[in-house]
Amino acid sequence: MKAASARVLLTGASGGIGRAMALALHAAGAQVLGVGRAAASPLPAGMGWVQADLGTEAGIATVAAAAVAARVNVVVHAAGVPAFGTLATTTPAQMQAVLQANLLAPMALTQALLPALARLPQAQVVFVGSALGRIGLPGFSVYGASKAGLHGFAEALRRELADGPVRVQVLGPRSTRTGFNGAAVEAYNRATGTTMDAPEAVAAALLQLIESEAAERFIGFPERLAVRLNGLLGGLLDGSFTKHRRSLPAPAPGSTPALPTITEESTA
Ligand SMILES: NC(=O)c1ccc[n+]([C@@H]2O[C@H](COP(=O)([O-])OP(=O)(O)OC[C@H]3O[C@@H](n4cnc5c(N)ncnc54)[C@H](OP(=O)(O)O)[C@@H]3O)[C@@H](O)[C@H]2O)c1
Repeated sequence: MKAASARVLLTGASGGIGRAMALALHAAGAQVLGVGRAAASPLPAGMGWVQADLGTEAGIATVAAAAVAARVNVVVHAAGVPAFGTLATTTPAQMQAVLQANLLAPMALTQALLPALARLPQAQVVFVGSALGRIGLPGFSVYGASKAGLHGFAEALRRELADGPVRVQVLGPRSTRTGFNGAAVEAYNRATGTTMDAPEAVAAALLQLIESEAAERFIGFPERLAVRLNGLLGGLLDGSFTKHRRSLPAPAPGSTPALPTITEESTA
């Protein structure tokens, strides 16, 4: 669909990538309804805003109602939360928060919007995934699982809806310079030679994806090639990540979550 015909619901619109997307969509003539947990900072004229927490059922219902009222025909799921570090330093609460924000919320919001989208002549749902949802990297097991789940959901839904007017697409950015990545990720990226994109590059790729028939678009080289190779020969690439493994931050003393110790006696 041409951007100028798009009435876009954009979650994550207050974030680094989301804000760049909102501005690019607006500049291309799309109507944009942004979502964030806080009240909107000054918006370009004509851009709408819904304040809601996508971590709650009430928040998802609020966003869905506003989107239906605005006759949204493109949904861009860009809200997300990060998780970086070894599995040993990740708490169960972090795991739940990541899966809620990155996987369950977009699934539930899509479900709530589909009946209205399916009544339109043409509609699109774009999930902002990640190269890390297709290439498992040391330090990103939980985050990568949330994005791999999102990619799997999008692929199945795309096939489920193939006879109707709703097209499902995935945008897969690589590391991008936003507040999403703290100093530890930036140090890891420097140590592993990982390129970071500007959020405007991701926004430009979103516009191209929305205006194309493509099912998915991964951003950047060599990540795009690595995504393909990993899909075909994942096991053969296992030896390629020594530098990544060695670049993980050492756990801070006391940062490992206190989990019950499981011994042979306690399982007997
Ligand atoms: N940055 C990267 O390196 C990178 C790479 C690949 C993919 N991605 C993906 O790109 C997307 C955007 O990332 P970003 O770099 O722009 O991150 P960001 O700057 O941290 O922004 C995150 C956005 O998600 C929203 N959000 C988080 N939890 C929410 C909730 N419970 N309810 C409503 N909104 C919520 C935040 O809204 P609030 O204002 O309410 O906090 C914010 O708008 C994410 O899905 C991320 O996984 C990022």
